[in-house]
Amino acid sequence: MKQILGFSKLNKDEKIAWLTQNYFQNREEAAQLLQNYWNPDEKLQKLHDEFTENTISNYYLPFGIAPNFNINGEIYVIPMAIEESSVIAAASNAAKFWGDKGGFKAEVIDTRKVGQVHFLFTEGFSKLEEFFRKTKTLLLERLQPLTKNMEKRGGGILSLELRDKTSALANYYQIHVEFETLDAMGANFINSCLEEIALGLKQEAATYFNFSETHQPLEVIMSILSNYVPNCLAKAEVSCPVKDLLPNTAEAEHFAHKFVEAVNIAKVEPYRAVTHNKGIMNGIDAVVLATGNDFRAVEAGIHAYAARNGQYSSLTSAKVEDGQFTFSIEVPLALGTVGGLTNLHPLVKLAMEMLGNPTAKDLMKIVAVAGLAQNFAAIKSLVTTGIQEGHMKMHLMNILNQFKATPSEKETVKAHFKTHTVTHSAVVEVLEQLRNA
Ligand code: MEV
Repeated sequence: MKQILGFSKLNKDEKIAWLTQNYFQNREEAAQLLQNYWNPDEKLQKLHDEFTENTISNYYLPFGIAPNFNINGEIYVIPMAIEESSVIAAASNAAKFWGDKGGFKAEVIDTRKVGQVHFLFTEGFSKLEEFFRKTKTLLLERLQPLTKNMEKRGGGILSLELRDKTSALANYYQIHVEFETLDAMGANFINSCLEEIALGLKQEAATYFNFSETHQPLEVIMSILSNYVPNCLAKAEVSCPVKDLLPNTAEAEHFAHKFVEAVNIAKVEPYRAVTHNKGIMNGIDAVVLATGNDFRAVEAGIHAYAARNGQYSSLTSAKVEDGQFTFSIEVPLALGTVGGLTNLHPLVKLAMEMLGNPTAKDLMKIVAVAGLAQNFAAIKSLVTTGIQEGHMKMHLMNILNQFKATPSEKETVKAHFKTHTVTHSAVVEVLEQLRNA
């Protein structure tokens, strides 16, 4: 296949024609499928087309809700965009479980975001330090046009410092900047500020160090925000007397014991920790996506945080102390509730309204709770029935759809599996029996 030049300049129909002609056996069928997923409302479709380059269709994910979340005494319904069958059911179960046990307590520990200008300097730290001391105020002044609006609202630059990284890489230094971006995720604000700092740094260094063709001791490599935000942190917790965990006290104690050990295992064993945290991300990503936030940034930041002590470990902790069971999570979350997709995507706006148009801090709490709830539901299943019982029940519909079951076949098979264990082969067998009867 030959490469195509200028593809992005073609219109949507031309792009689809090129694609289907070159990559599909049945061109009409492929083109029709892509078109089936267009929104009939042309304005709405155009909005989606313009989110990214080369849009040829829409890719649907289920948009569901998990009701009954008691967070700091308020009842929330949480929007979730996710394809995995059992996630929303699990979140809803956890919400119900904790609803009458004091609910979820959540708080924001800090909201500092980070960006860095990475540069090389070849004449040693002490010269650079002196230059930086003399130039710092000037660098900050240059930022005024960019930061003044954010400052009016109470945000802006919190700190700007020079860091010596030469022990890790020869001649490598940073300007490490901390930002408060309030309700915005702040990527554009942060990156614009950093690029201005980098420009200032270059210009001031040129004069200060007498740059010439052959003498340029300072070289900016790049300026970019960091998605590692260990100081943009939310915490959520549930707690109740052990005896309230289950109707039978002995069973409740045994459950609490197994639950705490399951979390402890994820603390010390990376193979388990990754899956444990994956379950947490089932909840976190689903809400982050539904609210139009950058789930890749959140994922990257959270996993780095999970490895902050040198070994990848659980994001949650559990303990029993004086007969009280406590389960908590601490996660870094750089989220926004203004700007980006949040003001553009109609379903994101709807998700935000459903959450009472939260501030970024409120959303951080909600997302942390979704992660904790998901982890609670997963561990509860793992240490009791095993995960497959609930998972396969929810997956049943996918298997039925895979075998193109009719509505009446679905009803019959679902009724059968109310009292039988769902496995892929058992579903196929029941379906076949039904069809042969
Ligand atoms: C599946 O999506 C998530 C779980 O594997 C999480 C866990 O094991 O804790 C159930």
